[in-house]
Amino acid sequence: MRKKLVAGNWKMHGSLTDNAALLSAIKPALAGMEAVVCVPFPYLAQVQAALSGSSIAWGAQNLSDQPKGAFTGEVSAAMLLDFGCKYVIVGHSERRSLFGETDAVVARKYVAAQAAGLTPILCVGESLEEREAGITERIVARQIDAVIEAAGVASLARAVLAYEPVWAIGTGKTATPEQAQAVHAFIRSKIAALNATIADGLTIQYGGSVKASNAAELLAQPDIDGGLIGGASLIADEFVAICKAAAN
Ligand code: PGA
Repeated sequence: MRKKLVAGNWKMHGSLTDNAALLSAIKPALAGMEAVVCVPFPYLAQVQAALSGSSIAWGAQNLSDQPKGAFTGEVSAAMLLDFGCKYVIVGHSERRSLFGETDAVVARKYVAAQAAGLTPILCVGESLEEREAGITERIVARQIDAVIEAAGVASLARAVLAYEPVWAIGTGKTATPEQAQAVHAFIRSKIAALNATIADGLTIQYGGSVKASNAAELLAQPDIDGGLIGGASLIADEFVAICKAAAN
């Protein structure tokens, strides 16, 4: 059976004080349960110290596609490994839309993450305009194909996918379980056409305004294998409840 996995994406939120409170609340509540928090770079050391030896893994929200060099402001995969990261989010829609990351850039970051032994959480998803134009599947397929072309379909055995409709991110507007399931099933069948075993084992998270109140119905869908949680991952009770919904 494939693994259900919930990951928090803190985005550019937090402080040493706030993080300490959040981590000390979620750590005992999630004891023995697998979960992930993806935090801002400066807090990786704090999270490593707080979560080492626990069942909660951690990661970053971005990385450079380059291994080292004169790239001011960038952070390499090896640096993330130095702080015990297991995961890194790649191609989040905010990176794509606000920081100009193209499919090609995202694919290079995915390759760099895997080359270092990190598990990329590859985000895909359509904008509202694209959904209304009826091209959701075409957009998601294009985003996935860029990575398959760069790294091969077998690389997905060492990755997590996150379907995040852009119109549902941070808007309070969640995709209905049926809308999300339809795209998840499309993604899995698209990958199954290349490799059925990889498709069957691939964890595909849903992201976009997931909260404790809607997590169970989303996670009950056959092709939804967890969540990538933004806003609700900053609230201990919410994040814990979502992780528990995934475990049930
Ligand atoms: P949200 O963000 O849960 O705040 O909608 C999800 C994400 O962007 O990963």
